Amino acid sequence: MEGLRRRQLLVLRRAGLARWRLEGRQGREGRGVRRRPAAAGARPLTGTVQPGARRALAAGLPDFPWDRLEPAKATAARHPGGIVDLSIGTPVDPVPAAIRAALTAASDAPGYPLTAGTPELRAAIRAWVTRWCAPGGDGFGVLPTIGSKELVAWLPTLLGLGPGDTVVIPPVCYPTYEVGVQLSGATVVRADALTSLGPARVRLVWVNSPSNPTGRVLPPAHLRKVVDWARERGAVVASDECYLPLPWEAEPVSILSVCDGRFDNVLAVHSLSKRSNLAGYRAGFVAGDPALVDELLAVRKHAGMIVPAPVQAAMVAALGDEEHVGLQRDRYAARRAVLRAAFEGAGFTVEHSEAGLYLWLTRDEDSWDTVAWLAERGILTAPGAFYGPAGGRHVRAALTADDERVTEAAKRLAEA
Ligand SMILES: Cc1ncc(COP(=O)(O)O)c(C=O)c1O
Repeated sequence: MEGLRRRQLLVLRRAGLARWRLEGRQGREGRGVRRRPAAAGARPLTGTVQPGARRALAAGLPDFPWDRLEPAKATAARHPGGIVDLSIGTPVDPVPAAIRAALTAASDAPGYPLTAGTPELRAAIRAWVTRWCAPGGDGFGVLPTIGSKELVAWLPTLLGLGPGDTVVIPPVCYPTYEVGVQLSGATVVRADALTSLGPARVRLVWVNSPSNPTGRVLPPAHLRKVVDWARERGAVVASDECYLPLPWEAEPVSILSVCDGRFDNVLAVHSLSKRSNLAGYRAGFVAGDPALVDELLAVRKHAGMIVPAPVQAAMVAALGDEEHVGLQRDRYAARRAVLRAAFEGAGFTVEHSEAGLYLWLTRDEDSWDTVAWLAERGILTAPGAFYGPAGGRHVRAALTADDERVTEAAKRLAEA
């Protein structure tokens, strides 16, 4: 443990992070009030928080986006042929039998599981990351997570970020990046081009390729620039790669593959939800800078953020098999082809969408108008406005409806 701390400190010092943590602590101790700027979509904080008063976290968070979709959902549900729900990327196909068998076989689990993961799971994650993400080196750390959403939501906090720190997220992105920044009290900035950021004290940069919601794939040269930029400033790059196993017209790469075998300041976040239909199991992991991963482990051990033992066993089975991933990819490819042609036939433009689980669509009008137009036809999509102001003229259609519903959507679009 002592060796671990020394190694962590060395790396932190090298990356300029030790200073940051100290500053963060000092900044917070001196302040009884943690006011945060209201980010886009956040409810304004009402009234003045008295020094020493409880800071109600929920009050500063945006409304849960999908709650705002309820009226459109009700409209779509009234369609005589039933709703085709393309609004959420939740898998609908079965959990592969071998994964279910592994879960069942491990279900007699009376003791506490390891936060770091069983040796079998750690080996399975390492092997998978080496094969698919980091062929050039094995000096990365690994840690299982309870799905990846919780890590996304808590990473700024787990890294010790707070008021005065800046986190960069993509202009149009998965809403939980912003929520995570809000939970920590840091400031969020939406930017693609890091060069435009000026003197902000950037501590963390999120990238997401293939992107939710746009399906955009970042080329290796772009990822490398982000890594170089972050290392020069002692910032961390977190790359959310949960859609990496779903390439269509572009070949997404892991950020770990552009690091020349050196993983300092870099974390790759992965999920088995989409790859293996395990959204209901809550199975993910993070891999990258061993000192940062050790730091996350140290906090998560105290905080009880542990993947249940049967799920750990199921993850070993899932990561050891690529056949089911190929089958699932084929299902999505077929649905994507049908939906893409149908939306284009109905006058939509498909942008990006070169990989991942979504079609990013526009009729060049406000995204809520498009949601309403589709809901009248019994098709529910997510307005691009959920993902940032720059998404306000798009909607996102998920490929996660079964074949019958996808055919039904195509039929309705052909009649539109
Ligand atoms: C970009 C992105 N990251 C992370 C997640 C979280 O996935 P999970 O918590 O199921 O691993 C999602 C879920 O849709 C996502 O789209």
